[in-house]
Amino acid sequence: MPEARIPQETPNIKAPKPGNDLGIPTPTGDIGPDVYRQRRRKLMEQMGSGIAVIFSADTISTTQRQDSNFYYLTGLEHEAGAALVLAPEHPRFQEQLYLRTLEVEDNRWHGIRPVLGRAVELGTGIAMVSRSANMPVLLNRAILSANTRELVYLGSFATYNRPVSKELQLLRDIQSRILNVTIRDASDILPRMRSIHDETEIAVMQKAIDATVDAHKAAMRALKPGMSEAELLCVFEHTAYSHGSRRFAYEPIVGSGPNNWVLHYTQNTRTMNDGEMVLCDVGAELQMYAADITRTYPVSGKFSPRQKEIHNVVQDAWNATVEMCKPGVTWVELNDKARDIIDRAGYSDEYYHSLGHFLGLDVHDVGLEHKPLEPGQIITIEPGVYVADENIGVRTEDDILITEDGYINLSIDLPRSADEIEAFMAS
Ligand code: GLY
Ligand code: MN
Ligand code: MN
Repeated sequence: MPEARIPQETPNIKAPKPGNDLGIPTPTGDIGPDVYRQRRRKLMEQMGSGIAVIFSADTISTTQRQDSNFYYLTGLEHEAGAALVLAPEHPRFQEQLYLRTLEVEDNRWHGIRPVLGRAVELGTGIAMVSRSANMPVLLNRAILSANTRELVYLGSFATYNRPVSKELQLLRDIQSRILNVTIRDASDILPRMRSIHDETEIAVMQKAIDATVDAHKAAMRALKPGMSEAELLCVFEHTAYSHGSRRFAYEPIVGSGPNNWVLHYTQNTRTMNDGEMVLCDVGAELQMYAADITRTYPVSGKFSPRQKEIHNVVQDAWNATVEMCKPGVTWVELNDKARDIIDRAGYSDEYYHSLGHFLGLDVHDVGLEHKPLEPGQIITIEPGVYVADENIGVRTEDDILITEDGYINLSIDLPRSADEIEAFMAS
Protein backbone atom coordinates (compact mmCIF):
# COMPACT_ATOMS: atom_id res chain seq x y z
CA MET A 1 0.00 0.00 0.00
CA PRO A 2 1.50 3.37 -0.93
CA GLU A 3 2.09 5.82 1.95
CA ALA A 4 -0.75 8.33 2.19
CA ARG A 5 0.47 11.87 1.59
CA ILE A 6 0.62 14.03 4.70
CA PRO A 7 0.20 17.81 4.32
CA GLN A 8 3.37 19.71 5.24
CA GLU A 9 3.72 23.11 6.86
CA THR A 10 5.42 25.79 4.78
CA PRO A 11 7.10 29.03 5.91
CA ASN A 12 3.92 30.98 5.28
CA ILE A 13 1.26 28.42 6.28
CA LYS A 14 1.31 26.70 9.69
CA ALA A 15 -1.07 24.03 11.01
CA PRO A 16 -4.22 25.77 12.30
CA LYS A 17 -5.34 25.09 15.86
CA PRO A 18 -8.81 23.81 16.86
CA GLY A 19 -11.24 26.71 17.15
CA ASN A 20 -9.16 28.91 14.81
CA ASP A 21 -10.69 32.18 13.61
CA LEU A 22 -10.60 31.08 9.97
CA GLY A 23 -13.19 28.32 10.44
CA ILE A 24 -10.70 25.69 9.27
CA PRO A 25 -11.93 22.25 10.34
CA THR A 26 -9.51 20.48 12.70
CA PRO A 27 -9.87 17.54 15.09
CA THR A 28 -11.36 18.76 18.37
CA GLY A 29 -10.59 17.36 21.81
CA ASP A 30 -7.61 15.54 23.30
CA ILE A 31 -7.06 13.11 20.43
CA GLY A 32 -4.61 14.56 17.92
CA PRO A 33 -4.47 14.34 14.11
CA ASP A 34 -1.82 11.57 14.26
CA VAL A 35 -4.24 9.19 15.96
CA TYR A 36 -6.87 9.79 13.28
CA ARG A 37 -4.23 9.24 10.58
CA GLN A 38 -3.19 5.95 12.22
CA ARG A 39 -6.82 4.82 12.33
CA ARG A 40 -7.30 5.54 8.62
CA ARG A 41 -4.04 3.74 7.86
CA LYS A 42 -5.05 0.69 9.90
CA LEU A 43 -8.46 0.63 8.27
CA MET A 44 -6.92 0.80 4.79
CA GLU A 45 -4.53 -2.04 5.66
CA GLN A 46 -7.50 -4.17 6.59
CA MET A 47 -9.42 -3.13 3.46
CA GLY A 48 -6.40 -4.08 1.34
CA SER A 49 -7.88 -2.89 -1.91
CA GLY A 50 -10.88 -1.12 -3.39
CA ILE A 51 -12.55 2.19 -2.61
CA ALA A 52 -14.72 3.08 0.37
CA VAL A 53 -16.82 6.14 1.15
CA ILE A 54 -17.86 7.33 4.63
CA PHE A 55 -20.30 10.23 4.80
CA SER A 56 -20.47 12.76 7.62
CA ALA A 57 -23.87 13.73 9.09
CA ASP A 58 -26.08 15.78 6.75
CA THR A 59 -26.76 18.34 9.45
CA ILE A 60 -25.17 18.97 12.82
CA SER A 61 -26.78 20.82 15.72
CA THR A 62 -26.95 20.55 19.50
CA THR A 63 -29.27 17.56 19.12
CA GLN A 64 -27.85 16.00 15.93
CA ARG A 65 -24.28 14.90 16.22
CA GLN A 66 -21.58 13.97 13.79
CA ASP A 67 -21.63 10.47 12.26
CA SER A 68 -19.58 8.26 14.59
CA ASN A 69 -17.60 6.43 11.86
CA PHE A 70 -16.73 9.72 10.15
CA TYR A 71 -15.68 11.24 13.49
CA TYR A 72 -13.65 8.16 14.44
CA LEU A 73 -11.63 8.49 11.26
CA THR A 74 -11.28 12.29 11.04
CA GLY A 75 -11.97 13.90 14.44
CA LEU A 76 -13.99 16.54 12.57
CA GLU A 77 -16.94 17.12 14.84
CA HIS A 78 -18.62 20.03 13.07
CA GLU A 79 -18.25 19.28 9.35
CA ALA A 80 -21.71 18.43 7.95
CA GLY A 81 -22.38 17.21 4.41
CA ALA A 82 -18.82 15.94 3.93
CA ALA A 83 -17.43 12.59 2.73
CA LEU A 84 -14.21 10.70 3.37
CA VAL A 85 -12.95 8.45 0.58
CA LEU A 86 -10.37 5.76 1.28
CA ALA A 87 -8.58 4.08 -1.60
CA PRO A 88 -5.59 2.07 -0.32
CA GLU A 89 -4.26 1.28 -3.79
CA HIS A 90 -4.65 4.76 -5.21
CA PRO A 91 -1.20 5.75 -6.54
CA ARG A 92 -1.36 9.27 -5.11
CA PHE A 93 -4.37 10.07 -2.94
CA GLN A 94 -5.32 7.17 -0.65
CA GLU A 95 -7.28 9.58 1.54
CA GLN A 96 -9.65 12.13 0.09
CA LEU A 97 -11.96 14.52 1.87
CA TYR A 98 -14.90 16.21 0.19
CA LEU A 99 -16.36 19.23 1.97
CA ARG A 100 -19.74 20.76 1.22
CA THR A 101 -19.94 23.61 -1.22
CA LEU A 102 -19.05 27.05 0.04
CA GLU A 103 -21.93 29.45 -0.51
CA VAL A 104 -20.77 33.05 -0.61
CA GLU A 105 -23.25 34.16 2.02
CA ASP A 106 -22.68 31.17 4.32
CA ASN A 107 -20.35 33.17 6.51
CA ARG A 108 -23.12 35.56 7.50
CA TRP A 109 -25.53 32.82 8.49
CA HIS A 110 -23.34 30.04 9.85
CA GLY A 111 -19.94 31.59 10.62
CA ILE A 112 -16.82 31.85 8.57
CA ARG A 113 -15.74 28.95 6.34
CA PRO A 114 -12.42 28.85 4.55
CA VAL A 115 -11.58 28.54 0.88
CA LEU A 116 -9.63 25.36 0.16
CA GLY A 117 -5.86 25.37 0.32
CA ARG A 118 -2.88 24.18 2.32
CA ALA A 119 -4.29 25.48 5.62
CA VAL A 120 -7.36 23.27 5.19
CA GLU A 121 -5.15 20.28 4.32
CA LEU A 122 -3.08 20.94 7.46
CA GLY A 123 -6.18 21.43 9.61
CA THR A 124 -7.93 18.27 8.49
CA GLY A 125 -4.69 16.26 8.16
CA ILE A 126 -5.77 15.07 4.71
CA ALA A 127 -3.72 15.96 1.65
CA MET A 128 -6.53 15.88 -0.88
CA VAL A 129 -9.44 18.09 0.08
CA SER A 130 -12.02 19.01 -2.52
CA ARG A 131 -15.68 20.02 -2.73
CA SER A 132 -18.57 17.54 -2.75
CA ALA A 133 -19.58 18.69 -6.23
CA ASN A 134 -16.32 17.23 -7.56
CA MET A 135 -16.73 13.87 -5.89
CA PRO A 136 -18.52 11.99 -8.74
CA VAL A 137 -15.81 12.77 -11.29
CA LEU A 138 -12.92 12.24 -8.89
CA LEU A 139 -14.40 8.96 -7.65
CA ASN A 140 -14.57 7.77 -11.24
CA ARG A 141 -10.95 8.71 -11.65
CA ALA A 142 -10.06 6.75 -8.52
CA ILE A 143 -11.95 3.72 -9.84
CA LEU A 144 -10.13 3.94 -13.16
CA SER A 145 -6.73 4.19 -11.49
CA ALA A 146 -7.33 1.27 -9.08
CA ASN A 147 -6.30 -2.24 -10.04
CA THR A 148 -9.78 -3.62 -9.62
CA ARG A 149 -13.22 -2.13 -9.94
CA GLU A 150 -13.97 -2.97 -6.39
CA LEU A 151 -16.00 -0.88 -3.98
CA VAL A 152 -15.87 -1.64 -0.27
CA TYR A 153 -18.83 -1.28 2.08
CA LEU A 154 -17.76 -0.18 5.57
CA GLY A 155 -21.20 0.80 6.87
CA SER A 156 -23.23 -1.11 9.36
CA PHE A 157 -24.84 -4.50 8.95
CA ALA A 158 -28.52 -3.54 8.96
CA THR A 159 -31.87 -5.27 9.21
CA TYR A 160 -34.12 -5.31 6.15
CA ASN A 161 -36.60 -2.78 7.54
CA ARG A 162 -33.98 -0.05 8.08
CA PRO A 163 -33.40 2.57 5.38
CA VAL A 164 -30.59 1.67 2.99
CA SER A 165 -27.55 3.63 4.16
CA LYS A 166 -26.28 6.54 2.10
CA GLU A 167 -22.96 4.72 1.67
CA LEU A 168 -24.53 1.55 0.29
CA GLN A 169 -26.83 3.54 -1.98
CA LEU A 170 -23.85 5.41 -3.40
CA LEU A 171 -21.93 2.19 -4.09
CA ARG A 172 -25.00 0.74 -5.80
CA ASP A 173 -25.46 3.89 -7.89
CA ILE A 174 -21.88 3.58 -9.11
CA GLN A 175 -22.38 -0.11 -9.80
CA SER A 176 -25.45 0.58 -11.91
CA ARG A 177 -23.47 2.92 -14.16
CA ILE A 178 -20.04 1.30 -14.49
CA LEU A 179 -19.72 -2.28 -15.71
CA ASN A 180 -17.82 -4.95 -13.77
CA VAL A 181 -17.91 -2.99 -10.52
CA THR A 182 -18.22 -5.25 -7.48
CA ILE A 183 -19.16 -4.36 -3.90
CA ARG A 184 -17.31 -6.13 -1.08
CA ASP A 185 -18.82 -6.41 2.39
CA ALA A 186 -16.35 -5.13 5.02
CA SER A 187 -19.01 -4.15 7.54
CA ASP A 188 -17.16 -5.88 10.39
CA ILE A 189 -13.89 -3.87 10.17
CA LEU A 190 -14.99 -0.61 11.80
CA PRO A 191 -17.09 -2.22 14.57
CA ARG A 192 -14.10 -4.29 15.66
CA MET A 193 -11.64 -1.38 15.39
CA ARG A 194 -13.96 1.01 17.21
CA SER A 195 -14.69 -1.45 20.02
CA ILE A 196 -11.01 -1.86 20.95
CA HIS A 197 -9.99 1.38 22.65
CA ASP A 198 -6.39 2.51 22.91
CA GLU A 199 -4.95 4.47 25.84
CA THR A 200 -5.74 7.91 24.45
CA GLU A 201 -9.33 6.93 23.85
CA ILE A 202 -9.69 5.26 27.26
CA ALA A 203 -8.42 8.49 28.85
CA VAL A 204 -11.13 10.51 27.08
CA MET A 205 -13.81 7.98 28.04
CA GLN A 206 -12.61 8.12 31.63
CA LYS A 207 -13.24 11.89 31.52
CA ALA A 208 -16.80 11.34 30.30
CA ILE A 209 -17.30 8.74 33.04
CA ASP A 210 -15.75 10.98 35.73
CA ALA A 211 -18.09 13.82 34.71
CA THR A 212 -21.01 11.40 35.01
CA VAL A 213 -19.87 10.04 38.38
CA ASP A 214 -19.65 13.61 39.69
CA ALA A 215 -23.09 14.38 38.28
CA HIS A 216 -24.58 11.35 40.08
CA LYS A 217 -22.90 12.42 43.33
CA ALA A 218 -24.27 15.95 42.98
CA ALA A 219 -27.72 14.51 42.31
CA MET A 220 -27.51 12.31 45.41
CA ARG A 221 -26.59 15.35 47.48
CA ALA A 222 -29.43 17.44 46.06
CA LEU A 223 -32.16 14.77 46.17
CA LYS A 224 -35.03 15.37 48.59
CA PRO A 225 -38.78 14.74 48.78
CA GLY A 226 -40.88 17.35 46.96
CA MET A 227 -38.29 17.86 44.24
CA SER A 228 -39.32 17.13 40.66
CA GLU A 229 -37.49 14.65 38.45
CA ALA A 230 -36.77 17.58 36.10
CA GLU A 231 -35.05 19.58 38.84
CA LEU A 232 -32.87 16.59 39.65
CA LEU A 233 -32.02 16.22 35.97
CA CYS A 234 -30.84 19.87 35.96
CA VAL A 235 -28.35 18.99 38.69
CA PHE A 236 -26.95 16.23 36.47
CA GLU A 237 -26.79 18.58 33.50
CA HIS A 238 -25.15 21.45 35.38
CA THR A 239 -22.46 19.20 36.85
CA ALA A 240 -21.71 17.39 33.59
CA TYR A 241 -21.52 20.71 31.70
CA SER A 242 -19.08 22.06 34.27
CA HIS A 243 -16.78 19.19 33.21
CA GLY A 244 -16.94 20.27 29.56
CA SER A 245 -19.83 18.07 28.47
CA ARG A 246 -22.29 19.68 26.04
CA ARG A 247 -24.88 16.96 25.70
CA PHE A 248 -26.19 13.83 27.37
CA ALA A 249 -25.00 10.65 25.68
CA TYR A 250 -28.63 9.43 25.47
CA GLU A 251 -32.08 10.45 26.58
CA PRO A 252 -31.74 10.56 30.39
CA ILE A 253 -34.07 8.49 32.55
CA VAL A 254 -34.99 9.94 35.95
CA GLY A 255 -37.89 7.75 37.03
CA SER A 256 -39.38 7.90 40.51
CA GLY A 257 -42.09 5.78 42.18
CA PRO A 258 -44.21 4.09 39.45
CA ASN A 259 -41.66 5.23 36.87
CA ASN A 260 -38.97 3.07 38.51
CA TRP A 261 -39.88 0.10 36.37
CA VAL A 262 -40.54 1.82 33.02
CA LEU A 263 -37.33 1.08 31.13
CA HIS A 264 -37.54 3.96 28.66
CA TYR A 265 -39.26 6.55 30.86
CA THR A 266 -37.98 9.92 29.65
CA GLN A 267 -40.74 12.37 30.63
CA ASN A 268 -38.84 13.17 33.83
CA THR A 269 -41.56 15.46 35.20
CA ARG A 270 -43.01 13.78 38.30
CA THR A 271 -42.68 15.15 41.84
CA MET A 272 -40.77 12.71 44.04
CA ASN A 273 -42.08 11.66 47.44
CA ASP A 274 -40.71 10.41 50.71
CA GLY A 275 -40.49 6.61 50.75
CA GLU A 276 -40.00 6.27 47.00
CA MET A 277 -36.91 5.51 44.96
CA VAL A 278 -35.71 7.28 41.85
CA LEU A 279 -33.90 5.34 39.14
CA CYS A 280 -31.36 7.59 37.40
CA ASP A 281 -29.89 6.30 34.15
CA VAL A 282 -27.92 9.37 33.10
CA GLY A 283 -24.65 9.63 31.16
CA ALA A 284 -22.66 12.57 29.87
CA GLU A 285 -21.26 12.81 26.39
CA LEU A 286 -17.79 14.33 26.43
CA GLN A 287 -15.62 14.87 23.37
CA MET A 288 -18.14 12.74 21.48
CA TYR A 289 -17.67 9.72 23.81
CA ALA A 290 -20.47 8.29 25.94
CA ALA A 291 -20.69 7.40 29.60
CA ASP A 292 -23.64 5.28 30.75
CA ILE A 293 -24.30 4.91 34.47
CA THR A 294 -27.42 3.94 36.42
CA ARG A 295 -28.10 4.10 40.12
CA THR A 296 -31.34 3.82 42.08
CA TYR A 297 -31.57 6.24 45.00
CA PRO A 298 -33.97 6.48 47.95
CA VAL A 299 -35.64 9.90 47.70
CA SER A 300 -35.39 10.50 51.47
CA GLY A 301 -31.89 8.99 51.79
CA LYS A 302 -32.98 5.67 53.35
CA PHE A 303 -34.24 2.54 51.58
CA SER A 304 -37.18 0.59 53.02
CA PRO A 305 -36.31 -3.02 53.96
CA ARG A 306 -38.15 -4.29 50.85
CA GLN A 307 -36.41 -1.80 48.54
CA LYS A 308 -33.09 -2.84 50.03
CA GLU A 309 -33.90 -6.54 49.56
CA ILE A 310 -34.39 -6.00 45.83
CA HIS A 311 -31.41 -3.66 45.59
CA ASN A 312 -29.29 -6.45 47.08
CA VAL A 313 -30.47 -9.00 44.49
CA VAL A 314 -29.40 -6.63 41.73
CA GLN A 315 -26.11 -6.07 43.52
CA ASP A 316 -25.51 -9.86 43.67
CA ALA A 317 -26.08 -10.17 39.91
CA TRP A 318 -23.83 -7.15 39.31
CA ASN A 319 -21.00 -8.55 41.50
CA ALA A 320 -21.10 -12.01 39.93
CA THR A 321 -21.08 -10.74 36.35
CA VAL A 322 -18.46 -8.01 36.83
CA GLU A 323 -16.17 -10.56 38.43
CA MET A 324 -16.41 -12.70 35.28
CA CYS A 325 -15.21 -9.87 33.02
CA LYS A 326 -12.00 -10.76 31.21
CA PRO A 327 -10.84 -11.54 27.68
CA GLY A 328 -12.44 -14.68 26.23
CA VAL A 329 -15.72 -14.40 28.13
CA THR A 330 -18.81 -14.19 25.92
CA TRP A 331 -21.93 -12.07 26.21
CA VAL A 332 -23.94 -15.29 26.36
CA GLU A 333 -22.03 -16.42 29.46
CA LEU A 334 -22.47 -13.04 31.14
CA ASN A 335 -26.17 -12.87 30.33
CA ASP A 336 -26.74 -16.44 31.54
CA LYS A 337 -25.03 -15.68 34.85
CA ALA A 338 -27.18 -12.62 35.59
CA ARG A 339 -30.33 -14.48 34.56
CA ASP A 340 -29.42 -17.44 36.79
CA ILE A 341 -28.88 -15.29 39.90
CA ILE A 342 -32.05 -13.26 39.39
CA ASP A 343 -34.10 -16.40 38.59
CA ARG A 344 -32.90 -18.08 41.77
CA ALA A 345 -33.82 -15.06 43.84
CA GLY A 346 -37.38 -15.50 42.50
CA TYR A 347 -37.57 -12.57 40.04
CA SER A 348 -37.55 -14.41 36.68
CA ASP A 349 -40.19 -12.20 35.08
CA GLU A 350 -39.00 -9.05 36.79
CA TYR A 351 -35.78 -8.84 34.77
CA TYR A 352 -36.61 -8.11 31.16
CA HIS A 353 -33.60 -6.73 29.34
CA SER A 354 -30.10 -7.87 28.55
CA LEU A 355 -27.09 -7.36 30.76
CA GLY A 356 -25.14 -4.78 28.82
CA HIS A 357 -23.58 -3.50 25.63
CA PHE A 358 -20.41 -2.02 24.17
CA LEU A 359 -19.74 1.62 25.05
CA GLY A 360 -17.74 4.12 23.00
CA LEU A 361 -18.59 6.93 20.62
CA ASP A 362 -22.17 5.67 20.77
CA VAL A 363 -23.91 4.64 23.94
CA HIS A 364 -24.97 1.35 22.35
CA ASP A 365 -21.70 1.17 20.52
CA VAL A 366 -20.66 -1.02 17.63
CA GLY A 367 -18.76 -4.24 18.33
CA LEU A 368 -18.86 -7.91 17.47
CA GLU A 369 -21.33 -9.18 20.06
CA HIS A 370 -21.11 -12.77 18.89
CA LYS A 371 -17.35 -12.88 19.59
CA PRO A 372 -15.63 -13.28 23.01
CA LEU A 373 -14.60 -10.09 24.81
CA GLU A 374 -11.17 -8.60 24.06
CA PRO A 375 -8.79 -6.30 25.95
CA GLY A 376 -9.51 -2.62 25.29
CA GLN A 377 -13.26 -3.07 25.03
CA ILE A 378 -15.49 -1.04 27.34
CA ILE A 379 -18.83 -2.57 28.20
CA THR A 380 -21.70 -1.81 30.53
CA ILE A 381 -22.93 -4.25 33.16
CA GLU A 382 -26.49 -3.31 34.12
CA PRO A 383 -28.70 -5.93 35.76
CA GLY A 384 -32.10 -4.84 37.03
CA VAL A 385 -35.18 -6.12 38.87
CA TYR A 386 -38.53 -4.37 38.36
CA VAL A 387 -41.47 -5.31 40.59
CA ALA A 388 -44.24 -3.27 39.01
CA ASP A 389 -47.03 -3.91 41.52
CA GLU A 390 -44.84 -2.61 44.36
CA ASN A 391 -43.48 0.34 42.35
CA ILE A 392 -39.99 -0.93 42.99
CA GLY A 393 -37.51 -1.02 40.13
CA VAL A 394 -33.77 -1.16 40.62
CA ARG A 395 -30.96 -1.09 38.07
CA THR A 396 -27.26 -0.66 38.72
CA GLU A 397 -25.04 0.10 35.75
CA ASP A 398 -21.27 0.60 35.53
CA ASP A 399 -18.74 1.02 32.73
CA ILE A 400 -16.16 -1.76 32.65
CA LEU A 401 -12.87 -1.82 30.73
CA ILE A 402 -11.67 -5.28 29.70
CA THR A 403 -7.91 -5.55 30.35
CA GLU A 404 -5.31 -8.22 29.43
CA ASP A 405 -6.04 -10.21 32.57
CA GLY A 406 -9.39 -9.01 33.85
CA TYR A 407 -11.21 -5.71 34.10
CA ILE A 408 -11.16 -2.20 35.55
CA ASN A 409 -14.39 -0.61 36.70
CA LEU A 410 -14.09 2.91 35.28
CA SER A 411 -17.03 4.13 37.38
CA ILE A 412 -15.73 2.59 40.61
CA ASP A 413 -15.87 5.93 42.48
CA LEU A 414 -19.65 6.11 42.55
CA PRO A 415 -21.37 4.49 45.58
CA ARG A 416 -23.12 1.35 44.40
CA SER A 417 -24.57 -0.96 47.04
CA ALA A 418 -27.65 0.10 49.04
CA ASP A 419 -25.49 0.59 52.16
CA GLU A 420 -22.90 2.69 50.30
CA ILE A 421 -25.62 4.88 48.78
CA GLU A 422 -27.27 5.45 52.17
CA ALA A 423 -23.92 6.26 53.77
CA PHE A 424 -23.09 8.77 51.00
CA MET A 425 -26.48 10.44 51.21
CA ALA A 426 -26.15 10.74 55.00
CA SER A 427 -22.67 12.30 54.79
N1 GLY B 1 -29.07 4.21 28.95
C1 GLY B 1 -29.21 3.23 27.98
C2 GLY B 1 -28.74 1.95 28.47
O1 GLY B 1 -28.47 1.78 29.63
O2 GLY B 1 -28.53 1.04 27.71
MN1 MN C 1 -26.50 0.91 29.18
MN1 MN D 1 -27.89 3.32 30.92
